[in-house]
Amino acid sequence: MSIDFASRMKHIKPFQVMALLAQAKALEAQGRDVIHMEVGEPDFTSPQAVVDAGIAALRQGKTHYTSALGLPELRQTIADYYDKHFAQKVDAETIVITPGASGGLQLLMASLLNPGDKVLLTDPGYPANRNFVHLYSAEPVSVAVDASNNFFPSLEQLEQTWDERCKLLIIASPANPTGTVLSSQQLQQYIHFIENKQGYLLVDEIYQGLEYDQASETAVKRSDRVFVINSFSKYFGMTGWRIGWMVAPSEWIEGLDRLAQNIYLATSTPAQYAALAAFAPEVLQELNTRRDELKKRRDFLLQALPQLGFELGYKPTGAFYIYADCRAITTDSFQFAQRLLIEQAVAVTPGVDFGNYQANTHVRFAYTTKIERLQQALERLQAIV
Ligand SMILES: Cc1ncc(COP(=O)(O)O)c(C=O)c1O
Repeated sequence: MSIDFASRMKHIKPFQVMALLAQAKALEAQGRDVIHMEVGEPDFTSPQAVVDAGIAALRQGKTHYTSALGLPELRQTIADYYDKHFAQKVDAETIVITPGASGGLQLLMASLLNPGDKVLLTDPGYPANRNFVHLYSAEPVSVAVDASNNFFPSLEQLEQTWDERCKLLIIASPANPTGTVLSSQQLQQYIHFIENKQGYLLVDEIYQGLEYDQASETAVKRSDRVFVINSFSKYFGMTGWRIGWMVAPSEWIEGLDRLAQNIYLATSTPAQYAALAAFAPEVLQELNTRRDELKKRRDFLLQALPQLGFELGYKPTGAFYIYADCRAITTDSFQFAQRLLIEQAVAVTPGVDFGNYQANTHVRFAYTTKIERLQQALERLQAIV
């Protein structure tokens, strides 16, 4: 019997990387030593103080719902963080705690998009966004980006693509899969563009804190047409806790609250208490030490990958990804990733996971494993290229 899925389900694509991960796990079960460069999360576990705070919250009976918008003290702590680290005054009332950036992205799109609205997304870009757009019966529109513009859309491209059905532009900085960071001038240009068009800009700052050459800016409070999504997953090393946040224009908060109450009721309470501990100065110091380690890994790969025939053509300055042009080695990156996994037990993500544009000639390397392992991975890559 065929399953009676809603028609939108035909648009929902699985992450290729998950299939690859399953294959890698199967090889590991056979005793193969797989080097993971496909995983989009740091190898570090959550800082001990964060874990302790989560456990303490559970022991103290903090196991009930919080309000849908989140713990007031966590919202205030995040507001203080913007003030201290970005010199940006933010009213804690405009911060919404969400179940990961994923929860924030869905909450925002559900409250913003009407059926038939168009949403501009970069290709390559974070694959789930296009699926979320389909969930709300809106239409994703790809804007092809490449190394020549640091993988961000040019104003000309936006002008050419935007029409009266467009409502939202989504930009991530630092970006996945490229690790590029928006310049302050580009950010300002996007804000002007959106204000002129009377549309909305969603800036996904989930990799904020992971910048290696210059600190990134925040788009928070730059316009009442800008929403910012962030998360405890990446810089804070808390992927499995499922907690993030959104900063929204104040007039949207009542509606977001109403919707959050219905969709997920509240974000995990122990995760919220754990996240509170993440802003202690000694924890932030620990996180910055981790960032320094990630920078070393990036520098190591930046120097080594071109010697193997991978072309970069840009400098990834954030997140923990390098999006490498592999056309000198293969024009079928998916098949290349499969072969690399099966023959050499190195897992990387093929470009097809992030869109269509030049996808067959790109692979994403995640430097979410130790330098010694990266070194081994390069030796194995050498054997195959
Ligand atoms: C650009 C981007 N946005 C959002 C997410 C979702 O992250 P989470 O729900 O763990 O906060 C990810 C995860 O990899 C991502 O890369």
